[in-house]
Amino acid sequence: MSVDQRARTWADAFAKRTKGGVGEGIASILALANVTDIISFSGGFPDPSTFPGEVIADIFAELIRSGDATALQYSPTRGLPGPRAFMAERLERLEGLRPAEKELMISSGGIEALALASKAFLDAGDLVMVEGPTYLGAIMAFRGFEARVEAIPMDADGLQVDALADALAAGHRPKLLYSIPDYQNPAGVSMSPERRIALVDLARRYGFLLVEDVAYRELGFDGVRHPSLWTLGPDVTVQSGTFSKTFFPGVRLGWVAGPAPVVEEMIKAKQNTDQCAGALGQRLLEEYGRRGLLEEQNERARALYSRRCGLMLDALDRHMPSSVTWTRPTGGFFSWMTLPQDANTVDMAKAAREQRVAFVPGQPFFPDGSGLNTLRLAFSKAGDDVIEEGVRRLASVVVDALGEGGGA
Ligand SMILES: Cc1ncc(COP(=O)(O)O)c(C=O)c1O
Repeated sequence: MSVDQRARTWADAFAKRTKGGVGEGIASILALANVTDIISFSGGFPDPSTFPGEVIADIFAELIRSGDATALQYSPTRGLPGPRAFMAERLERLEGLRPAEKELMISSGGIEALALASKAFLDAGDLVMVEGPTYLGAIMAFRGFEARVEAIPMDADGLQVDALADALAAGHRPKLLYSIPDYQNPAGVSMSPERRIALVDLARRYGFLLVEDVAYRELGFDGVRHPSLWTLGPDVTVQSGTFSKTFFPGVRLGWVAGPAPVVEEMIKAKQNTDQCAGALGQRLLEEYGRRGLLEEQNERARALYSRRCGLMLDALDRHMPSSVTWTRPTGGFFSWMTLPQDANTVDMAKAAREQRVAFVPGQPFFPDGSGLNTLRLAFSKAGDDVIEEGVRRLASVVVDALGEGGGA
């Protein structure tokens, strides 16, 4: 059998849950992570200058030399007691709500939590509602369990909760509703406090679970902090948080806080995925966090990302044609751009590559494959000194594609 024939045989054997529909997705974005000869507004990467290398080296050395074997041993599936206590105290301090013992687990990051929620809740054909656009990894996680994924539109105040209410009244019955209320990926907008309250009301009325993803919640630029869905509705919300954007993604750690029966079911689901999050990372995070270093790091990160966001918005104002609009984030990593209806940002991405600039076309962020005229720009990892030039290159690609000239 030739290599090609064998590859085809395997392709026939692949499970429905990963075959087709879920695609290359995140892998193709991650592949660009370390490319250096291109100005990349592509992946949602934290800037490596925020990674606390020296301190981590010291804490690791202390941990290993102390002779405390827990850092090198398997951890309980729900997480080690010390790191769990640290996370519970942190939530209490930041959110004013402390998860009880059975309401918290340590995940191996945000994506894992979405996969565990999917594994615990979704049978083939179940409906999951999401924001349109939404995080590609979430669409992949839900589809990976053969769910139907439908999007409710967003505007500058986040998910259009009225549109969700209409869909529910018309008979749509989601098991899960996934939302990123703060500095959303990819749209860069936040949900208004009124809509958060209305959303929790709908979850209670119709009996679905809110899956709240707070990946960027700690990265607000202006000190404004709306209540989380979990604090508004701890009876109907499971919150998934990650330390990828605030500590460093290599540690692969996050948390899940929610109703005890939901968390217990997700812990069951975790037993045969990775069994437990890495104990070494858990202990590292605990030691780092207990010294107040996480909050210090976040303060520096907020200043960095706020400055980069400002540089990008200024450059967009200067260079983009007037037929193009974009969101003006007050936190997080992303701005979302909307071009005229007939624009094709997939084609534009190829032209942009030739100009040595990268973005992510918007289409994969919509479960129905719409949004061909949209794109996502990440300002988190492009250096201060290249943002202006990157936007200038991007604007020239956009102007060429649209066949128009002139600034905003
Ligand atoms: C909204 C959102 N959730 C979750 C994640 C993934 O987090 P983790 O690295 O913890 O798996 C990301 C990363 O891009 C994200 O943007």
